[in-house]
Amino acid sequence: MKTLISEPEVNEAVCRMADEINGFYGDSPLTIVGVLTGSVVLLADLIRQMTMPLRVGVVQASSYRGATTRGPLVINSDLMPNIAKQDVLIVDDIFDTGHTMLELIDLMHKLAPISIRSAVLLQKTGQQQVELCPDFVGFEIPNEFVVGYGLDYQDQYRNLPYVAALESHDIGE
Ligand code: IMP
Ligand code: MG
Repeated sequence: MKTLISEPEVNEAVCRMADEINGFYGDSPLTIVGVLTGSVVLLADLIRQMTMPLRVGVVQASSYRGATTRGPLVINSDLMPNIAKQDVLIVDDIFDTGHTMLELIDLMHKLAPISIRSAVLLQKTGQQQVELCPDFVGFEIPNEFVVGYGLDYQDQYRNLPYVAALESHDIGE
């Protein structure tokens, strides 16, 4: 495993994202929807630097089945807060193909929010398969499988305070 983004670099990027989000929304109330499980670390760090009145809810989305390849996307919105007539900011760990974010936005649009925007710590360069860009991005990264700061490989490594790229010997290839 090799460190891709150090802990101080991650922290600095989260501060920058919070500044951008605070600047964008000003004092308007905001509903944050974190995407479980990968967003939990970013969510906790980001909301503590946000200055508008805010509510926090979660939705669960998973598309990995224990490996580094995608499976069918499953969304569980049982815990999602009421977002009707709210400005919504979806927070996720990483924007890869974009299918997860697109499906979440499609689902939430049906619930009549005022607006929906998205914030992700990482965006993989050149991997997008949808016509959608996240509104607030911490880092663009190359197409490597990364872990740490919420991101997992087979449910491990979410607790690392930095972002690391897995190497072939880490995934038994
Ligand atoms: P997308 O639907 O292809 O954009 O994938 C987004 C989801 O896949 C994220 O919410 C992550 O949970 C997961 N994911 C994508 N790339 C990685 C990675 O490099 N490491 C860990 N999880 C990833
Ligand atoms: Mg995820």
